[in-house]
Amino acid sequence: MNEAEKKSYLERYKQKKQNGEYFWPDSIAKDAIVSLMIFMLLLGLAIFAGVPSEPPANPSDTSYIPRPEWYFLWMFQLLKYFPGKLEGIAIVGLGLLIVIGLFGLPFFDRSPKRHPLNRPVATIAMSLIVIGIVFLTIQAVVTTPPQAEALDLGADLASRVEAGGALFQEHCAECHGADGEGAEITSSPGDFTDPLNSEDFLVTRSRDTIFQVISFGQPGLGMQAFGLPYGGQLTDQEIRVIVDFIESWYVSPEEEAAGPDLSLIETPSYAQHVQPILDKRCASCHSRRLKGNFSVVGYDNFMTTGDNAPVIIAGDAANSILVQMLHGVKTDAGGQMPPARALRADQIQLIERWIDQGAQNN
Ligand code: HEC
Ligand code: HEC
Repeated sequence: MNEAEKKSYLERYKQKKQNGEYFWPDSIAKDAIVSLMIFMLLLGLAIFAGVPSEPPANPSDTSYIPRPEWYFLWMFQLLKYFPGKLEGIAIVGLGLLIVIGLFGLPFFDRSPKRHPLNRPVATIAMSLIVIGIVFLTIQAVVTTPPQAEALDLGADLASRVEAGGALFQEHCAECHGADGEGAEITSSPGDFTDPLNSEDFLVTRSRDTIFQVISFGQPGLGMQAFGLPYGGQLTDQEIRVIVDFIESWYVSPEEEAAGPDLSLIETPSYAQHVQPILDKRCASCHSRRLKGNFSVVGYDNFMTTGDNAPVIIAGDAANSILVQMLHGVKTDAGGQMPPARALRADQIQLIERWIDQGAQNN
């Protein structure tokens, strides 16, 4: 800076200072207004846009791709250009260089000129940095694969159950039946899966247990792993809605008590009225697991199997072992059936009517 320049600079500086503003209250007022505006903006964003939160963290989910917030994406991208050990140099070294540069700025940028056009080196350097950051950020967004498509866990239960139902039909129904009632396993004919929709299953398995079984499978029993971490094809989110679907089969004692009154059905049908009760309440122990060698899979088995067969005497409900057990009367064949919770009175009476009317396969 030559003498003339210095003089005019000092002159202007003096002038500015003379008719200058006061820090209090002039500057403070300006600051306060801008602060308030930013605060209102944040408040508005918080109220109307909300926090972009991801699903709860899950340590067993290996499909999750961790990534930094958007304003760090450029660094994230930068790392990709420095292989292996060089990463450290890139992040620490580059950062250090920039900070040292900033400290040195007053020593090498001593021109009094403030207009960007009068400061080509600084302007170009800064532009390059900004362009670089924008470029790297875009590059990072474009090249990162999207997070595995997430089902909205916040959705209401009904839509989760619906989504879970669709996935169940696609992946599970062939081995577990459309309603989880159990089905013949195609790969080993003659083998059936236990019902998943039975009270027995649903009461004794927690959501977590069901989740783990689906995710990890039961390799020894012929159930493959479905979770991505174990080589399956379902995300944790998808398995969670399947669990919601499975849980939706559970009918609590209160709900069951409120079920349709069967006492109005004069001539019960086996297929329409009896079998559904057996599927729901008996099959978990009397289909694949043949407790007492008694099977409720199909009419013929129902009528003929059991260590104490026949347990049903057509036309004589009162003397049928099965009916006695339904009433909780202890017989040689065992105690109350189902052991945990007796059938509703009108369900038992319906089965009695059906037996008294000849126990037809109707
Ligand atoms: C290839 C046939 C097959 C497919 C497909 C299959 N499973 Fe299984 N699953 C089995 C077998 C076999 C078992 C062993 C227990 C049994 O026989 O009931 C089993 C067991 C289970 C169990 C534990 C049962 C218990 O009594 O503890 C659950 C829960 C289950 N499967 C859910 C599912 C779900 C949900 C799907 C779909 C995502 C699915 N399974 C797909 C064959 C299959
Ligand atoms: C939680 C498992 C479980 C459920 C659910 C269950 N049972 Fe049983 N059942 C058993 C066991 C165990 C035995 C054998 C009892 C014994 O030998 O002491 C048995 C035995 C029987 C027998 C005697 C078979 C024979 O010939 O010895 C009949 C009949 C029977 N159950 C009917 C039913 C009916 C009907 C239902 C549904 C309404 C039902 N059970 C539900 C576990 C169950």
